[in-house]
Amino acid sequence: MRLLFLGDIVGRPGRTAVIERLPELRERWQLDCVVINGENAAGGFGITEVICEEVLGAGADAITLGNHSFDQREALVFIERQRRLLRPANYPPGTPGRGATLIDTRSGQRVLVISVMGRLFMDPLDDPFAALDRELEACPLGRVADAVIVDVHAEATSEKEAIGHYLDGRVSLVVGTHTHVPTADHRILAGGTAYLSDAGMCGDYDSVLGMQKEESMRRFLQKTPGPRMEPALGAGTLSGIAVETDDATGLARHVAAVRLGPWLAESVPTFWER
Ligand SMILES: [Fe+2]
Ligand SMILES: [Fe+2]
Repeated sequence: MRLLFLGDIVGRPGRTAVIERLPELRERWQLDCVVINGENAAGGFGITEVICEEVLGAGADAITLGNHSFDQREALVFIERQRRLLRPANYPPGTPGRGATLIDTRSGQRVLVISVMGRLFMDPLDDPFAALDRELEACPLGRVADAVIVDVHAEATSEKEAIGHYLDGRVSLVVGTHTHVPTADHRILAGGTAYLSDAGMCGDYDSVLGMQKEESMRRFLQKTPGPRMEPALGAGTLSGIAVETDDATGLARHVAAVRLGPWLAESVPTFWER
């Protein structure tokens, strides 16, 4: 199966890049399943129902969230009816929405998508390891799901790598989000799971983490309150990871970084470009 995961959409440049380029990429790479983190899609903070529908309409099969899940209060309501929008599974019981969903692909295969959030240097939620065990027990790779994609929304690379090895052999892909900076450690772990510490962001890289660099610099230079942070508005770059899985096992066969747009060196999955 051909999977694409893209990192946090930040504001309009990220949305525009996804909406303009994803339909073509889906076709060109014959993608079976596309998952995108959308926690900063609405002006850098959270996601609205209109934006959620736009991103799904452009060809995303599921959208994951993170610590900004509910910055737009309407998400507390519409997440209940939007089964393809996921907040981290390790939020406390009773939190609106869900942390995992099963996607039916066009070719009739099924992809389990799970979102969890790390606890180091973040708002400490419930144990992400236990939440992952629970979701995978309900829907194991090979028996219920043909592929499993896990978004680990976390600050610490140690926690992301630990989760990667914890799930090695049990899922198709473990990919980190949240830092908005792509890492170069995409690989296939010993047990066959594709891994990347951080997918980076879909947004304007002429910025500080997708937000306007002037106000961000000012906050470091002068320790005084200022205007609200706004997304940088230059052209957006797509950033994430492409994975080809073995249909028999659901584990990874090929993995490549995806970076398309200004400021970052371009990277595409050459194994699909023939
Ligand atoms: Fe983010
Ligand atoms: Fe985040």
